[in-house]
Amino acid sequence: MSTSPSPGIPFFTLRTEPDGQQCDAWPEHTLLDSMEQGGIAWPSSCRSGNCRTCIAQLAQGQVRYRMEWPGLTPEEHASGCVLPCVAYPTSDLVLEVPSI
Ligand code: FES
Repeated sequence: MSTSPSPGIPFFTLRTEPDGQQCDAWPEHTLLDSMEQGGIAWPSSCRSGNCRTCIAQLAQGQVRYRMEWPGLTPEEHASGCVLPCVAYPTSDLVLEVPSI
């Protein structure tokens, strides 16, 4: 699991579980944009961190947000839930469909 893109390769790797699909995750693109560009279908609606349609469980890796507090409860945030439409990768990632 990398915490910075490999030299000469300016992107991370994103894998979804349980289906095992994989795509490039670009640091300046949201996870949702990277998944769509990589051909991975993921539910979405508002694309602005409000509706929670895209919610996912971060099984491995780290993300950052450009907004102060995306539409997650503190409990969800602490349990590793992320909103791929407004989250940016800072490492290789594994996303799971959430169990909540
Ligand atoms: S698509 Fe609405 S919160 Fe991500």
